[in-house]
Amino acid sequence: MKALITSGGRGTRLRPITHTQNKHLIPVANKPILHYAIEAIVEAGITDIGIVISADNADVPRAIGNGEKWGVNIRYIPQEAPLGLAHVIKISQDFIRDDPFIFYLGDNMVIGGVKRFIDRFQAEKSNCHLTISKVKEPSRFGVPDLKNHHIIGVEEKPEKPKSEFAVAGIYLYDHTIFEAVNAIQPSARGELEISDAHQYLLDKGYRITYSEITGWWKDTGKPEDLLEANRLVLSTLQNDLQGEIDQQSQLAGDVVIGKGSTIRESHIRGPVIIGENTKIENSYIGPYTSIHNETIVRNSEIEFSIVMENCRIENVGIRIESSILGSNVEIIKAKGIPKTHRFILGTQSLVELF
Ligand code: DAU
Repeated sequence: MKALITSGGRGTRLRPITHTQNKHLIPVANKPILHYAIEAIVEAGITDIGIVISADNADVPRAIGNGEKWGVNIRYIPQEAPLGLAHVIKISQDFIRDDPFIFYLGDNMVIGGVKRFIDRFQAEKSNCHLTISKVKEPSRFGVPDLKNHHIIGVEEKPEKPKSEFAVAGIYLYDHTIFEAVNAIQPSARGELEISDAHQYLLDKGYRITYSEITGWWKDTGKPEDLLEANRLVLSTLQNDLQGEIDQQSQLAGDVVIGKGSTIRESHIRGPVIIGENTKIENSYIGPYTSIHNETIVRNSEIEFSIVMENCRIENVGIRIESSILGSNVEIIKAKGIPKTHRFILGTQSLVELF
């Protein structure tokens, strides 16, 4: 059994963060999203992993390496352009060969691992095993048509979804998927759609089975999904205090504070994770907040947010909430007059003022 993980695509719905950072490297609970995919696969006992990357960007190989730190082999497969998920599979045939494999979309997160799906795929001797999850807006996803607990059709982002389920980004295949991805044609948006490959398998009478994901699953495609994934991971956090906390500070709930960080005269209400060499002074850090390394929060309040590396938040007069701050961002109080707000924002930044 091999594994294929995606890390390409455009990440347009997460701009401006993704202007400078690959979305798969955005930290959730201070860990790159892609680590969650790799760890789930490693935990299932798979040691040969292919990661598909955008051909023009080496950020993922640089950040992830050759797999040594997880005791596995990682091979990178460049994709010239984001031509669709079925295209990703098509260009990976040399790596996969005739082995069965798990195809894991690197921006998906699931709690509870993937071994249970691999076991079902093998036990049911399927050509393809899909995972599905009930969602509020099925039309954002691939949607299965279900009849008597069988998948009888799959449509990509349909206007009128035939069920309340999404096909999640964790798929299991045998070699027949290559017949499908080599036969289908690009869709109206110019992509080789994975849902069309599934429909091809159904039309040819191949066996598609499925598991319903009963715990949580997230496609971290949009900012609100990222915050929700961060909330869900933080809710499993366990206290681990390695930094320095002064007598005047109060901590409640589960809090992780990394090495070299200092907490002074502050209230931290977990679940909260604070990275290494970060300073929190005279501030309130509320539930479901991740603050990365080398950051300063002084005389400010923040909750339900993700703050990446090397940020500075100082003397902000109002609580920051539901926010995502990319690395090296500064939010500080202006000095002197005139009393104005001053912004230096890149393309597609969002500021909401009260
Ligand atoms: O998350 C589940 C959904 O993922 C499924 O329900 C849909 O059927 C499936 O098409 C996919 O939809 P998305 O619109 O969410 O796909 P997205 O373009 O965001 O790409 C998913 C992952 O694959 C992400 O890691 C980026 C990567 N990717 C995508 C394309 C199109 C590539 O590496 N190369 C590509 O060509």
